[in-house]
Amino acid sequence: MIPLRRIALILIALAGLGVAGALALTRPDGHARDGAPPEGDAQAGERVFRIGGCASCHAPEDAEGADKLVLSGGLQLQSDFGVFTVPNISPHPQAGIGGWSYYDFADAMRYGVSPDGRHYYPAFPYTYYARMTEQDLADLFAYIRTLPESARVNAAHDLEFPYNIRAALGLWKGLNLDPAPVLSKSGDPLIDRGQYLVEGPGHCGACHTPRGPLGGPRLEAWLAGGPNPEGKGSIPNITPHQNALGGWSAGDIAYYLESGFDPDFDSAGGSMVEVIENLAKLPAEDREAIAAYLKSVPAIAPE
Ligand code: HEC
Ligand code: HEC
Repeated sequence: MIPLRRIALILIALAGLGVAGALALTRPDGHARDGAPPEGDAQAGERVFRIGGCASCHAPEDAEGADKLVLSGGLQLQSDFGVFTVPNISPHPQAGIGGWSYYDFADAMRYGVSPDGRHYYPAFPYTYYARMTEQDLADLFAYIRTLPESARVNAAHDLEFPYNIRAALGLWKGLNLDPAPVLSKSGDPLIDRGQYLVEGPGHCGACHTPRGPLGGPRLEAWLAGGPNPEGKGSIPNITPHQNALGGWSAGDIAYYLESGFDPDFDSAGGSMVEVIENLAKLPAEDREAIAAYLKSVPAIAPE
């Protein structure tokens, strides 16, 4: 049987090609390209690179130590839509993004558009990165330019119809790309910093928020966990519901994000291991901010 999701996507793809094709194919505009790009600080960019987890996808599979900083791509991501091969974003001028301007980079991160105007798949979590500040983007770009070049050329994605039609992503983005904060601002500086890190560069919701039939996040169940989009097992609910993180103090959460140990001294497993490897290298205040935000989000019962 053809899954409902497939039928819905075929319809969207056809609509994307037809009626809205012209609209969907055009470059999003409204962002300034005039004048000098913002000044980036590579050293500050390392912190953004960590919270953004770029190496988790863009380093070669099983890379260790210094090899984690060679962003040659090649990792294969399994999904319901087919297999994505992560691209080379090292500063190599041809194989990577060495020839890109800051604005090319910012458009990819904020609008999910390539320098030649193609839409990116949301397997690249730009719907979260779209919330990043200009300064963080500039610092991140400056940092990536200091990393080693790799000449590796990767295979194309292996996606089934209709997912292989990039133009249809224009409509998907119309539904799912919104840089506004997910929750309203609290006014507390610590919680607001945590909100920025979680909803923006940290893209925690990409794993911890269940997805709707078209693969977009179900924001009414923000951070409530769900089936693992990569197929194996499920991802825990990290809202303060009593059957989720309700029993964890903010200190417990911050300690887990640094050490991987939960309050029962079980250690984190699966894809969270790599997230914690990155979070552990951040200043303690960032983990405290994330913990404060997680204690403040609406409690949602696990499904
Ligand atoms: C969950 C995996 C994942 C993470 C994390 C991730 N990316 Fe990617 N990225 C991808 C995939 C997959 C693509 C290819 C998208 C496509 O072809 O439509 C991509 C594409 C890109 C591109 C466009 C490259 C090109 O050749 O057109 C850039 C730039 C990029 N990512 C930068 C980053 C940065 C910077 C970070 C960290 C802040 C990051 N990515 C984190 C998976 C990821
Ligand atoms: C690539 C997917 C992925 C991303 C991104 C991710 N997580 Fe996780 N997270 C997981 C998985 C999988 C687990 C379960 C780990 C285990 O089985 O031990 C988990 C567990 C957790 C737990 C412990 C929950 C419990 O009940 O034991 C917390 C807290 C947590 N994540 C917070 C975060 C925060 C904060 C972020 C963003 C900075 C984040 N996660 C980003 C996949 C992810």
